[in-house]
Order: sequence, then structure tokens, then C-alpha cells
Amino acid sequence: MPKIITIDGPAGSGKSTIAREVAKRLGFTYLDTGAMYRAFTLKAIKANVDLEDSKGLIELIKKTNIDIIAQKDGSLKVLLDKEDVTLEIRKPVVTQKVSFIARIPGIRAQMVKLQRQFGKKNDIVVEGRDIGTVVFPEAYKKFYLDADFGERIRRRMRDFEALGQKICPKEVEDDLKKRDNADMTRSVGPLKQAKDAILLDTTNLNIEQVIEKMLSYIK
Ligand code: DC
Repeated sequence: MPKIITIDGPAGSGKSTIAREVAKRLGFTYLDTGAMYRAFTLKAIKANVDLEDSKGLIELIKKTNIDIIAQKDGSLKVLLDKEDVTLEIRKPVVTQKVSFIARIPGIRAQMVKLQRQFGKKNDIVVEGRDIGTVVFPEAYKKFYLDADFGERIRRRMRDFEALGQKICPKEVEDDLKKRDNADMTRSVGPLKQAKDAILLDTTNLNIEQVIEKMLSYIK
């Protein structure tokens, strides 16, 4: 049976950086489930499907191919219908719309199916919002990462800067508030700490400290 380590938490809590590095050190495959929701959001935008049209979106996802391919350096390549969209899915237009897509139960069901298939074949460190609660409730170890709101804004600003994208702090703050609210209040797969997940507050910890803490629980 492959080993599954889950990391859930809000945007800016450090999930991606930590999950990627922990996976690398354990020799596990890293899976970013947010990238899957983002890839489908991009598809819906490009196909001009109204994001309120759940039926249309569920039809569209049946005709969509999302592949997440692990790279040698530990990063992931995201293919949408065979096209490399790794960078495009990080654009603000996708970030602002992804919560509309993520609230639709039929879309979530498809995503959960894909994620479980991935977990059948590989030892994985998988990050998202509902991974420890819904996708892999029987995971080997579960973590819930959190950080102060102000710190999460600063981290998101740094992410955008690293991508060379200009964005104002107010815009990032509004987006985080909206996404936190949408992620925590949706009826299916809301963001919450699984009962058996270990809570790590990363506000005053650097990346190495979080990784070491996590590895100490895993080993
Ligand atoms: O981790 P991220 O910011 O790239 O995720 C983008 C969005 O995808 C996030 O706002 C909510 C959604 N998401 C989700 O609903 N369930 C997951 N398991 C992962 C992400």
C-alpha cells in the first residue's frame, strides 16, 4: 500500500513549498491538488463557460484531461489537454475564479477520483483543502498548516513577485479573504482540520523549521 501524507490549510500557509520539499526528502511524489482546480478553471475561462453554470461545467470536465507530471527537481508540470499550463494557472484571473469552480460538488467528485487514482500508484505528499478530511481519510500522517492573516498576505505577495507579476497588497488581501470564506463555507469538501491532523502554525517559523517539525512527526 502506498504511503500518503496529507497537508491541508489556507492559501499562504506555506503548503506548496513545504509539501514539495518534504516529498523530495522522503523520496515521495508531490501532488498539488490546487493546481488541478486551477487547470480546470483555466479551461472553463478559455471555453467561455459561465462559472455559475454547474451543468455546463460538469459536461466540460468530462471532456477535460488534466495531467500532473513530477519533474526531476521536485516541481510539477501541469498539462491541460496535453498543453503545458504550469505558469498560466498561477495568473490572477485564474486565482480569482477558482473558488467558483471548487464549490461545485460534481467537479469536486471528479477531482477526488483523479487524486485517489494518483495515490494508488505512488507514495505521495499531497496538499490541498479537503485531503485529510475527504480524499484520503486513512492517510498515514495528516497535517494542517496555518499562519496569521498578515503573514499569509506577505507570502502571497512574494509568490507573485517571484513570478514577475505586479499586484497590489489590497488586491491580495481581498482575494485571500474571499477565498478563505469560500473554501471554509462550501457545502462539500470545505477547508477544515481533520480530527487526527497535526496542527502546525507556521507564522514564526521559517521553511526549514516547518520541514524539520513535519519530518520529526513522520519518522
Ligand atoms: O492551493 P491553491 O491556492 O493553488 O488552490 C486553488 C484553489 O483551489 C483554492 O482556492 C481552493 C481550491 N482547492 C480546493 O477546493 N480543494 C483542494 N483540495 C485544493 C484546492
